[in-house]
Amino acid sequence: MQVEQASSVGRTGGEATPIKKEIVDGLIAQMGIQDFAKATIREVKQVAAMAEKESGVEFIKMEMGIPGLPAAEVGVRAQIKALEDGIAHSYPDIQGYPELKKQASRFVKAFIGVDIAAEGCVPVTGSMQGTFASFLTCSQASRAKDTVLFIDPGFPVQKMQLQVQGVNYETFDVYDFRGAKLRGKLESYLQKGNICAIVYSNPNNPSWVCLTESELQTIGELATQYDTIVMEDLAYFAMDFREDLSVPFQPPYQPTVARYTDNYMLLISGSKAFSYAGERIGVVCISDTLFHRHFPDLSARYEGLPFGLVFSTRMLYALSSGTSHSAQYALAAMFRAACDGEYIFRDEVKVYGDRARKLKEIFLRHGFHVVYDRDLDRPVADGFYFTIGYKQMTSGQLARELMYYGVSAICLITTGSHQEGLRVCTSFIEDHQYAQLEERMAIFEKNNP
Ligand SMILES: Cc1ncc(COP(=O)(O)O)c(C=O)c1O
Repeated sequence: MQVEQASSVGRTGGEATPIKKEIVDGLIAQMGIQDFAKATIREVKQVAAMAEKESGVEFIKMEMGIPGLPAAEVGVRAQIKALEDGIAHSYPDIQGYPELKKQASRFVKAFIGVDIAAEGCVPVTGSMQGTFASFLTCSQASRAKDTVLFIDPGFPVQKMQLQVQGVNYETFDVYDFRGAKLRGKLESYLQKGNICAIVYSNPNNPSWVCLTESELQTIGELATQYDTIVMEDLAYFAMDFREDLSVPFQPPYQPTVARYTDNYMLLISGSKAFSYAGERIGVVCISDTLFHRHFPDLSARYEGLPFGLVFSTRMLYALSSGTSHSAQYALAAMFRAACDGEYIFRDEVKVYGDRARKLKEIFLRHGFHVVYDRDLDRPVADGFYFTIGYKQMTSGQLARELMYYGVSAICLITTGSHQEGLRVCTSFIEDHQYAQLEERMAIFEKNNP
């Protein structure tokens, strides 16, 4: 354990911190970060890496949201075979590899319990591209509707995408608007008539809040009533480990807005559920009704095409001319194996939930609290992320203070949350680090009574 190397100049009057305060403060100043509460993931990562190097003390890195597990083998094998068979030479079909479309449609039926035709399941280079192309399509569908609404907290890059596109957005923190309060809050935006799309992730990055079926029903009903499109980001598909969502074609299914409206797009990513982030692969599944719908403003701009074909043959074509051919073979194989019950993907990623449970237990024992702690009547699930706060500390104070203890995490404020606290990601935690965290948080608690 490297805590013993701690400086004796950590805190005046307190016990030595594992990393000298001056090292962290010096690096933050050197990088020109004025407000640590607003530091980006990459900045936090860089400070942690440099502080680790300078101090020789291992950091417990919890800022990055990238998978820490090996890629699903069934995907890797299929992709290698596709490459060996010579797929790399040809452009992929802009609508997607037919087998992937078919398996995506099956996957949606098997694990979400809804019917979407293969035609509406379109591969994208990660959900990242999926949201970019969806924002373009939704924001151009009707001239009167020029604003995207985020049910926050959320994934900051999506707002950056809108900044790049010059599209307006509104946002509210769902923390105070769970359950019955959600309807009134949503309507306060929708009544203005300018919302083209509603976006949220479920389970949620960063809070791991999972909207309930009744909340999704509210969103769906209002989407129909106010004619707005729901972009349901399922990057953490089936990772609410409180439920066993892993048995194909059998309930319980992944909760979804798709049961309550026809105005929806589901964004399913290969990155987290299949640990396939490096290949940039996912699918956007557009409801049959929305896919075929003609929006006058889209038709006028794009030769009379319906929504779904504008999405694929205009937006995706203009962005990247489709999605890496071999990665589509990988995703097709993973979807097929999951639907056939040969590959229980949930079993491979469940370890994130075990890590969250252990980490939360340590933090809670040392005076921390979980910020987004409930889904109405039950505690949030243990999964890829969770959120912590400490007494009256602001996000910025807590993030900076924890750096002196070799713990790095990002502030909730960067995710559209109005709560004071940090997002903790479990993906890089190694087994020996629980003892490290225990030891360091014991000192933290003593130093911050
Ligand atoms: C909520 C959310 N949406 C989308 C993504 C990006 O997914 P992809 O890797 O498929 O682009 C992430 C990745 O962290 C995410 O957290």
